[in-house]
Amino acid sequence: MSKLDEHLEAALARVDQAGRRRVLRPASLTANGRIVRDGRSLLDFSSNDYLGLATHPLLTERAREWTARYGTGSGASRLVTGTGEAVLTLEARVAAFKGKEAALVFASGWQANAATIPALLAAIPGTAVFADRLIHASMHAGLANTRQHRFRHNDLSHLEELLATKGREAPARLILTESVFSMDGDVADLPALAALARAHDAILFVDEAHATGVLGAGGRGLAAQVPGINVVMGTFSKAMGGFGAYVAGSRTLIDWLTNAASGFVFSTAPPPAVFGAIDAALDLVPGMDAERAHLVALADRLRAGLATLGIDHGASASQIVPAMIGAEHDAMALAARLEAKGLLAAAIRPPTVPAGTSRLRIALRAGHEEGDIDALIEAITACR
Ligand SMILES: Cc1ncc(COP(=O)(O)O)c(C=O)c1O
Repeated sequence: MSKLDEHLEAALARVDQAGRRRVLRPASLTANGRIVRDGRSLLDFSSNDYLGLATHPLLTERAREWTARYGTGSGASRLVTGTGEAVLTLEARVAAFKGKEAALVFASGWQANAATIPALLAAIPGTAVFADRLIHASMHAGLANTRQHRFRHNDLSHLEELLATKGREAPARLILTESVFSMDGDVADLPALAALARAHDAILFVDEAHATGVLGAGGRGLAAQVPGINVVMGTFSKAMGGFGAYVAGSRTLIDWLTNAASGFVFSTAPPPAVFGAIDAALDLVPGMDAERAHLVALADRLRAGLATLGIDHGASASQIVPAMIGAEHDAMALAARLEAKGLLAAAIRPPTVPAGTSRLRIALRAGHEEGDIDALIEAITACR
């Protein structure tokens, strides 16, 4: 064993000891809200394929078409070799979808956040950063070595207090939040945040990873209706059924990111198949009101079912519904028992969520039926 592997084995042993070793298991998504995992078909409450587009024939077909037309790889960073007309047209479609002047596609949501935030901070050194306590890890990656003022989750009075006391001398203030929080399924009050940002002359950055496709008119997300949000980020990897991400905003913002966002400048463009799938998703999503209404009904049914069991679902107001369990071990044990019964509802535990708030993160898919929700509630009843 190499010296490196010895160190890594020791590090893994520490993870084992904490009961937090993660392993990859063979799985593949199927339609109708199912997933095949370790060879078994499970009722899936853990994927983010909210609208069922990941297996939609139009996306598959368009990905194939773009591959046939443009090849399997993009060859280089878009700045080095130039960029396809089709991709520029696609970005204009994304901008229009989000109600913004311009948009830039990134290879992933993680990369978009981790690259965009430092690019903004580089443009205005000394910016004071105000971050909701529950923002996603990819935003933290963009904040490495940056001092942050963290406000209590969705607590705008706390944010206001911090803006008034901590950010006044700074050349700019940057507020970071999500419109739908990934592990809680609750929603930020974007109009109030935009008003606060205006009052304190702050830049507002909103991550719409879990709202895009699902919430807002035509699935445009929640930010599209709210003026005054400067930077909107979202992914194509969840409800949009594909891969990659976007940042949308003013033309100047996108011009700056094109020059300064390291994860864009120094990374090969996503392959044509990915762009093709995004193009097809943009054709479909505005017309999927029936699927969105179905998700709302499923989520209401699930929250009511959990309430009858006395299980807290936090402030969930979306297709993401946490079933709060508390102790890490209890959440893990419940998820394992559910899986044995044929249901996948993954337990989420620290460090992804704060200690003592381990939960089943239940994500609904348009392919679910009401009976699937009832089956989940029954199974939780039997397995607790
Ligand atoms: C809120 C949020 N932002 C960003 C990301 C990263 O997106 P991607 O999976 O496309 O890298 C995720 C996905 O886990 C997320 O939940």
